[in-house]
Amino acid sequence: MLSFLFGGRKAVPRRNTVFIESHALSFSVSRARTVLEAALEAGIAFPHDCKVGTCGTCRFQLKSGDIRELNSSAVALSADEIANGWRLGCQSIPHGDLTITLPGLISEVGPPPTLFEAAIASVVPMTHDIVELRLRLNRPVTFVAGQFAELECDAVQGARSYSFAGWPEEGSTLEPIFYVRKVPGGAFTGWLFSQDRVGAPLTMRAPFGTFRLRKGQGRIVMVGGGSGLAPLKCMLERWVSEETRPVTLLYGARTLKDLFCVEEIAAIGRNWQAEFKLLPVLSMEDPGSPWTGARGMVTEYLDQVPDVKSAQAYLCGPPPMVDAAEAALIKRGMARDTIFADRFFDRSHLAEEAGTGG
Ligand code: FES
Repeated sequence: MLSFLFGGRKAVPRRNTVFIESHALSFSVSRARTVLEAALEAGIAFPHDCKVGTCGTCRFQLKSGDIRELNSSAVALSADEIANGWRLGCQSIPHGDLTITLPGLISEVGPPPTLFEAAIASVVPMTHDIVELRLRLNRPVTFVAGQFAELECDAVQGARSYSFAGWPEEGSTLEPIFYVRKVPGGAFTGWLFSQDRVGAPLTMRAPFGTFRLRKGQGRIVMVGGGSGLAPLKCMLERWVSEETRPVTLLYGARTLKDLFCVEEIAAIGRNWQAEFKLLPVLSMEDPGSPWTGARGMVTEYLDQVPDVKSAQAYLCGPPPMVDAAEAALIKRGMARDTIFADRFFDRSHLAEEAGTGG
């Protein structure tokens, strides 16, 4: 920790305190740390998903105190929400002590994140640019199906977020799996894909996120794009023998060679306790190819899903796909508060824009 000398006396750098009024919890924040970063460092499972200011999951209501925003909250919050004091935890740096409230219960999202030592147990190709990464942990991890982990290796600066892709029957596991898509120019996936990394050490911090299956009555509508299929598959595996609501899963990929896990999902569907419909949709498949299934944008097929008004939706994939699906469902009469989304960056956006991601 830094300290400064003034006139022979040590001055301790100022740390601000954030009091979460709704949960009677407080934590301290050092300079230049966001509310979200400091909460996670304090072991508080502050809700979040994207960490880049687009999903809105980390929203809090500022009751007193001042903050500086890294990026405007307007990207993820409405004008009304901002006028009522709502801000984003991942974009807010406190200027002094804060009192805030959070919607929902922190305990809803499972145990607080902790650090695990890990080694790569296997790397299995799933498509031409997606692998199944299996880790071996120093102790079992417990998570809620739909949540994600942050992985970090010594060779690459910064952590990368990946959703848990498989549900362990015992409820915890020493060997979690993730689907990792190779990001062009991405530092972490460049490292992972460049040679055999089995045995290489990693650290894993988990679990994170609020994406999970909610209780409800009507149909479950799922829309997954690319490696965004991971948390949806994990949820289906978790609930296959207990959930009795019908499911429609629309799965978007670019071409036939980008599809993966179709057989595994179909097998889950055969054991589902109610109607289960899986519809893979290819957006860029060659017109002359043998593919006889659905073509076009996956969101176009939402028009064919029955009982939308009484359904819940779970959307996971690139932000444009999630936004389009959300708009299409709302247009068909689905209530906004029954739509749950995980905008799945897989850092390709950041990599392409800044050369720093993936
Ligand atoms: S907007 Fe902050 S975690 Fe997504």
